[in-house]
Amino acid sequence: MIKSLINTLEQRHILDKSEFIELIKNFENQEISDYLFKKAVAIRQKHYGNAVYTRGLVEISNHCRNNCYYCGLRAENKKIERYRLDKETILACCHEGYQLGFRTFVLQGGEDKFYTETMLTDIVSSIRKAYPYCAITLSLGEMSYETYLALYQAGANRYLLRHETANAAHYALLHPAQLSEKNRKQCLENLKKIGYQVGTGFMVGSPFQTFEHLAEDLLFIAQLQPQMVGIGPFIPHHQTPFADKEKGSVQLTLFLLAILRLMLPTVLLPSTTALGTLDPQGREKGILAGANVVMPNLSPVAVRKKYEIYDNKICTGEEAAECKFCLHRRMESIGYRIVVDRGDAKTK
Ligand code: SAM
Ligand code: SF4
Ligand code: FES
Repeated sequence: MIKSLINTLEQRHILDKSEFIELIKNFENQEISDYLFKKAVAIRQKHYGNAVYTRGLVEISNHCRNNCYYCGLRAENKKIERYRLDKETILACCHEGYQLGFRTFVLQGGEDKFYTETMLTDIVSSIRKAYPYCAITLSLGEMSYETYLALYQAGANRYLLRHETANAAHYALLHPAQLSEKNRKQCLENLKKIGYQVGTGFMVGSPFQTFEHLAEDLLFIAQLQPQMVGIGPFIPHHQTPFADKEKGSVQLTLFLLAILRLMLPTVLLPSTTALGTLDPQGREKGILAGANVVMPNLSPVAVRKKYEIYDNKICTGEEAAECKFCLHRRMESIGYRIVVDRGDAKTK
């Protein structure tokens, strides 16, 4: 019965809400998981072979005006030591990344209004000029249509903005009233309209999340048809209102990665640092469930520990080169190889 749902998903790339719920309920069943992972890996193999794409992540600022209840960077966390990188440092990170074989740079940060539109477009256009063939991905939160457009025109190609949860009531339990699920979704529509390759996603096991919410997340993603989907387990941070909440499940994250691969066969699907934080083999397991991207850190080691969105985040003491070689070894140990490539989504 459940296996036939998986077959239907493989053929039609979609299920209805009750079917998604039925399927997700089986995430702890080993036989079902193995069946699902095998199919997900076969589809990923068909489109991408054993290549794993890599993106160099530069965490440009840990200042944030928002107060998402789950995140260690939230404005009301007064214990965190704040930092922001200047243009020269960001360019130096990209330079090091390029030497190490990265062809996609991801600039991520809190919503830090210190960086004006002019400053950001200057940074983006400088990276574009220095690396004309590289992809520039931004993950800097919610902005106006005009600012997204200006950044696109300056040379950014991709934008990562997780929708976090598609359910408005659940969204309101994770965020203060100033933030809304409606605006988040509008931002994603705007990014798509402008021409960005768009990434969305959600935390697995965020507080108050139900299987029903997860099914709604999957339906939202099916409708948006993003080029990238980032999911990782929720991990509590001790200086947030969710400090005592339960962490997300690795097994459920893997199960959802495999479902996403069946829904969107060519999607770019990272095996996230959060997975690696909860399980020493988490990133390998993510690839073996259908993921095809890893995102090692290019931020200067001096600031890494300060970008602690959740407790015990891995790779905060290692140099970029160490993470690169570590990931190479990890991928080789499971029969995959990291490639020097922009890693654009293939079309079906
Ligand atoms: N400020 C931007 C934004 O919110 O889109 C980008 C940076 S934010 C730190 C990137 C992602 O981290 C968020 O979309 C959220 O899903 C994830 N995140 C935040 N706190 C987390 C936590 N405690 N556990 C797992 N993931 C978390
Ligand atoms: Fe800020 Fe993003 Fe953290 Fe929310 S998730 S507090 S927007 S850095
Ligand atoms: Fe950073 Fe292994 S990937 S130390």
